[in-house]
Amino acid sequence: MQKAKILVTGGAGYIGSHASLVLLEAGYEVVVLDNLTNASQEALQRVEQIAGSSVTFIQGDIRDRACLDLLFSDHDIHAVIHFAGLKAVSESVTQPLSYYDTNVCGSLTLCRAMQAAGVCRLVFSSSATVYGPDAPVPYHESMPRGRTANPYGTSKSMVEQALEDLSQSDERWSVVLLRYFNPIGAHPSGLMGEDPQGVPNNLMPYIAQVAVGRREELTVFGNDYATADGTCVRDYLHVMDLSEGHAKALGRLSTPGLHIYNLGAGKGVSVLQMVEAFARISERPVPYHFAPRRDGDLAAFWADSQKAEQELGWQARRGLDEMIADTWRWQCRNPQGYSTDIHTKSQRTSKC
Ligand code: NAD
Ligand code: UFG
Repeated sequence: MQKAKILVTGGAGYIGSHASLVLLEAGYEVVVLDNLTNASQEALQRVEQIAGSSVTFIQGDIRDRACLDLLFSDHDIHAVIHFAGLKAVSESVTQPLSYYDTNVCGSLTLCRAMQAAGVCRLVFSSSATVYGPDAPVPYHESMPRGRTANPYGTSKSMVEQALEDLSQSDERWSVVLLRYFNPIGAHPSGLMGEDPQGVPNNLMPYIAQVAVGRREELTVFGNDYATADGTCVRDYLHVMDLSEGHAKALGRLSTPGLHIYNLGAGKGVSVLQMVEAFARISERPVPYHFAPRRDGDLAAFWADSQKAEQELGWQARRGLDEMIADTWRWQCRNPQGYSTDIHTKSQRTSKC
């Protein structure tokens, strides 16, 4: 039987590369479209090394309609998992037009190209940030989207709304919105992981770089929140669990309409708890100092993921210690991320 072909936009990035691996291992063919603005093609070579099968890589931009049209005419795509986008919250405040252009215009261009090609099955990377600051915890999918705190969050909310309207306007469409909480961790092989460019914005890669000696100390933003130890609480989930959630979501695309799922572990962990656990597992000190709160941070939120459990048969299975151990293995074995191999070129690459 012919394998179903999945287009993974942003498939060279952190979550997209792990999801591509899970898809290959589940028996799908994978076509990755990525412009490599925040990724290295080396990540895909590691995917192929682990999976023992190949990925078709196309270096191109989701805003490039001609590139998309060519891709859909060259490949019989069954469904699209759409990860491509910009994700740095603070950068979105200083460069809002880039964020709206890539995240919103790019997603709309992709949908137009899909519709023209008759490919109307889409899984979209959304975020817990769409619930906004006033939602009570745990967040549940039945809650409305709230006001957003920055252009990044607004761009996710706008795309969600567009996809909701699209799925109502045309019954051929089936769309799954996956609202991620805080993905961390790495593939257990130590071959793949998160490789942020420049200074990490997110907690986990920052802590890992402190522990490995690449940065001096962690800045903890705020110790006066109304939480048990005064630091912010988040719902961290393993990137492999998250990736498996995407494979399950593909099954939901056989039912037309809009389907929304939280993907989180359902447990809150504070910044200081994370620091303590990382130091314990890595057996390295993680020095830190407190600084004022970071703009836009909420005190605490976590997921109610029962809907994903009931309808997708998905649950976060890996615990915090495993998330940290896998991150640490990746960090130790690749202290500079993928960068040493950044100029490697695959023979299978085509360019739009
Ligand atoms: P990432 O930056 O590692 O991956 C995004 C990928 O998209 C990169 O490989 C980048 O090169 C590519 N890309 C960017 N602009 C593109 C364009 N115009 N055309 C083609 N490719 C382009 O980020 P990630 O952490 O893997 O996140 C993947 C998705 O999940 C994003 O949409 C992000 O907003 C969303 N998300 C991430 C988190 C998180 O904490 N990592 C949380 C919630 C939602
Ligand atoms: N933090 C620090 N120091 C740092 C980095 C982070 O103290 O150097 C704190 C933050 O203040 C926050 C917590 O660690 O309290 C988690 O911060 P992250 O930046 O790792 O994650 P966020 O919860 O801010 O945001 C992440 C993604 C967003 C996504 C959101 C959804 O970056 O894209 O999760 O849950 F929208």
